Amino acid sequence: MKIRILGSAAGGGFPQWNCNCANCTGLRSGTIVATARTQSSIAVTENDTDWVLINASPDILAQLRAAPALQPARAVRDSGICAVLLMDAQIDHVTGLLMLRERSTPLPLYATTQVFGDLGSGLPLLNVLSHYCGVARQVIDPDDTAFTIAPLASTRFSAIALESKAPPYSPHRNDPHPGDNIGLRITDAVSGKSVFYAPGLGAITPAVDAAMRAADVLLVDGTFWTEEEMITLGLSKKPASQMGHLAQSGPGGMIEVLDAMPAARKILIHINNSNPILREDSPERAILEAHGIEVATDNMEISL
Ligand code: MLT
Ligand code: MN
Ligand code: ZN
Repeated sequence: MKIRILGSAAGGGFPQWNCNCANCTGLRSGTIVATARTQSSIAVTENDTDWVLINASPDILAQLRAAPALQPARAVRDSGICAVLLMDAQIDHVTGLLMLRERSTPLPLYATTQVFGDLGSGLPLLNVLSHYCGVARQVIDPDDTAFTIAPLASTRFSAIALESKAPPYSPHRNDPHPGDNIGLRITDAVSGKSVFYAPGLGAITPAVDAAMRAADVLLVDGTFWTEEEMITLGLSKKPASQMGHLAQSGPGGMIEVLDAMPAARKILIHINNSNPILREDSPERAILEAHGIEVATDNMEISL
């Protein structure tokens, strides 16, 4: 099994179009040691030809241009994307679906009932897509039941309900339902090795803790360094937890959580442009390194 990181940034990407924080300004002017990142998406394959796209980011077209392996060119119109699976209905994870509209057959789309609901109401992308390729709905239950996605035969997926946040336009933004956000266990049935992927992780519930302990590779929420980051920088009035993200530093933060995990690789993903870990020579980045924690970059590949 191989995972390609298509986009490692949170919503807005890095740099963000309207942001003049120290990171965004520094990247634009070339005065910091950091790399641009597109918005949150990964792709999974077991044969280097057929890929399950996990999240469809607004940057998908640029991500696909940067990933020729996802275009096997078996016909005059073709794609290696055999299906799309969504972690939630957030803009950074779903709006790329509109860019896949030129397909000649309905797009196989895996999501929870809650996410399908949001995409037919608060953000009615599926109504729009029905005038183009349409989607073939495959409902995911967030109860850790294993399923496969054809034609991948030896890759098992299972979803776990997360404590995070439905998007602001969701009818249940302030009335959380299991399935608003999922974490995904992806297992190679041949090697038995698994990845736990959760780009938006607000709290470590017992089910999440168990899934993280069982994983060989952790690919988890790296949005914010501190709970108050967006407030301190004057970028937003919301703390990390209100946005459904567990910050890295401090007691009970993601570093402490990861320290307790036996995984061979611990990788942060969905990094917000405000996060100091984006600067490769920052003290915060050195702290991560001391804890054996990596920071995902676009185009990174993980084989297991
Ligand atoms: C989030 O995960 O909180 C999102 O990236 C926010 C957004 O896309 O607006
Ligand atoms: Mn996001
Ligand atoms: Zn910024």
